[in-house]
Amino acid sequence: MAKKRILTGDRPTGPLHLGHYVGSLEERVKLQKETEEFILIADVQALTDNFKTPEKVSSNVRAVALDYLSVGLDPRLVTIVVQSQIPEIAELTVFYLNLVHFGRLLQNPTVKTEIKQKNFGKEIPVGFLAYPISQAADITAFQANLVPVGEDQLPMLELTREIVRKFNRLYGETLVLPKAVISKSPRLVGTDGKEKMSKSLGNAIFLCDSYDELERKVMHMYTDPNRIHPTDPGRVEGNPVFSYLDLFSDKKDEIKELKKRYHAGKVGDVEVKRFLVEELDKFLDPIRRRRKEFENDHKKIDKIIREGTEKGKQVASETLYEVKKSMGINYLF
Ligand code: TRP
Repeated sequence: MAKKRILTGDRPTGPLHLGHYVGSLEERVKLQKETEEFILIADVQALTDNFKTPEKVSSNVRAVALDYLSVGLDPRLVTIVVQSQIPEIAELTVFYLNLVHFGRLLQNPTVKTEIKQKNFGKEIPVGFLAYPISQAADITAFQANLVPVGEDQLPMLELTREIVRKFNRLYGETLVLPKAVISKSPRLVGTDGKEKMSKSLGNAIFLCDSYDELERKVMHMYTDPNRIHPTDPGRVEGNPVFSYLDLFSDKKDEIKELKKRYHAGKVGDVEVKRFLVEELDKFLDPIRRRRKEFENDHKKIDKIIREGTEKGKQVASETLYEVKKSMGINYLF
């Protein structure tokens, strides 16, 4: 039986963090053996709101690839592709633009939230508003069956499925109808206790953080705001220090004991945080070791991305060929 084809991706606007790990990277590593996995570094999409500072995007392409390799994505099993180097995706986008009406784009809840955050005011770039259409091109270019994503990406998948159905209805069965696979792990809270870990909120622990950076961030972490003295009974539920321990440490018995003592006011924040620093450091250690293998060898990373992108381009150009054929615009070639 043919392996299922998977497409996932990230915007390269900064290094990846623990939230990316639990939300998707871990799952990608697990899936790499049993599926045919393409991973897209979505630099064109990242430019839709960073077009004034393209270096913010370009300088992170290699960094994101290095993060992928560091967490154990194996270039012999997964294909890492760079979106901007596959113009076939842009060409598909142009055809799909006709299949979506303007009002539909304005309804996308994820895009609506982003528009508010990004302070575009009245000047929303058309490219930004239309990026979900370009994301449909990403997904269909690879004829992906499954797209593992976080919940915020569901509107993109919904739109992609609408485009696929409409295309197939108008021009004949051509595109694979993809399915979203929603990550089972809940969103990782930030070090400040806010709902979401994110680089722009300044509450992230990066996969590339050194021991010192890790220590500084953990020792400043938000815990239970109502607890002033170590002898006050503390809250474990919703306390990010314990959420991280649950996710990144396998010392289950010690954690259970610590929680009991915390709850009873028999342990200070500092001791719990010290323990977390060591446990996170252990978690990051193999990631750092793999990073070292590639870090100083730009040629090796570039070769992996180049070969991946070439392979991706091949697949995308086959899709584009079929798309043009179905539309009857394959006049000359
Ligand atoms: N929109 C995704 C994000 O912000 C990134 C992305 C671009 C993507 N193209 C994709 C995700 C295709 C899945 C499939 O994280």
